Amino acid sequence: MRKTITTALAAVLLTALTACGSGGGAADDGKITMGFAQVGAESGWRTANTKSIQESAKSAGIDLKFSDAQQKQENQIKAIRSYIQQKVDVIAFSPVVETGWDNVLLEAKRAKIPVILTDRAVDSDDETLYKTFLGSDFIEEGKKAGKWLLDNHSGPTNVVELEGTTGAAPAIDRKKGFGDTIKSSPEIKVVASQTGDFTRSGGKQVMEAFLKSQPDIDVVFAQNDDMGLGALEAIKAAGKKPGVDIKVITIDAVHDGMQALSNGEINYIVECNPLLGPQLMDLAKKVVAGEDVPHRVVTKETTFTQEQAKTALPDRKY
Ligand code: AHR
Repeated sequence: MRKTITTALAAVLLTALTACGSGGGAADDGKITMGFAQVGAESGWRTANTKSIQESAKSAGIDLKFSDAQQKQENQIKAIRSYIQQKVDVIAFSPVVETGWDNVLLEAKRAKIPVILTDRAVDSDDETLYKTFLGSDFIEEGKKAGKWLLDNHSGPTNVVELEGTTGAAPAIDRKKGFGDTIKSSPEIKVVASQTGDFTRSGGKQVMEAFLKSQPDIDVVFAQNDDMGLGALEAIKAAGKKPGVDIKVITIDAVHDGMQALSNGEINYIVECNPLLGPQLMDLAKKVVAGEDVPHRVVTKETTFTQEQAKTALPDRKY
């Protein structure tokens, strides 16, 4: 009799611990709690990404705890630690920079809370620190931008590059993809490259400086639309015509970028899709249920010329 009671008590205790979210799945009511540590609100892309995550969590019935790190890694680490303390069922985040995550991800692993990377990767030797990584292939995006330039330049071409946040996966990978592609033409030279931190004001400031220090700029490669849009302001203020005197290539394809492409001020945009919310919620449900998921899920994306932007713009969701 005593043995039966002890066994029953042990079973109750185990169920209670599991329901607390320590790696054993959703709470009793079946509701999953997700802690999401966002990069910030640096760009139109990011705003669309945040909206997609918040709306998808709501429609998937997932309880979302959301934090904005204001582009600071220490804020993201703090947020992740607080999600671990709160024993959420799953943690998702878009890492501001690639390196420096092993300790906090190990803490999540020890607490048996699965982690999903969205949008940006971490640089770690231990791939067991996260369940899956959902996001774009940034090297491929850089290659597409470089390919357009290879096909559309004529004669010696001086390029200035507006880089994203230093140390961030999209900044590193887009630079690599673009650089590797254009090096097949000895005519194309990157004459200056500097970070604009993925912001419009950063892009404007850096472009103003480039216009002063570089006498002959043919092309701007901006690693996102916002920096490209900032560069347009600087080019116009310097009395030049963007899209004509200086060609502009950007990445993202958010509404304002697509508008500038339609107007002929930007020449080509490589798409980076921010609407990751629905796929993220699906993956989260599977991971919390203990189902296998692919370790890498690559987002589907396209590219836009001026004509394609004019057609796509009326139905653009972001
Ligand atoms: O990580 C995705 C990049 O981050 C987007 O291209 C950019 O706009 C954002 O800030």
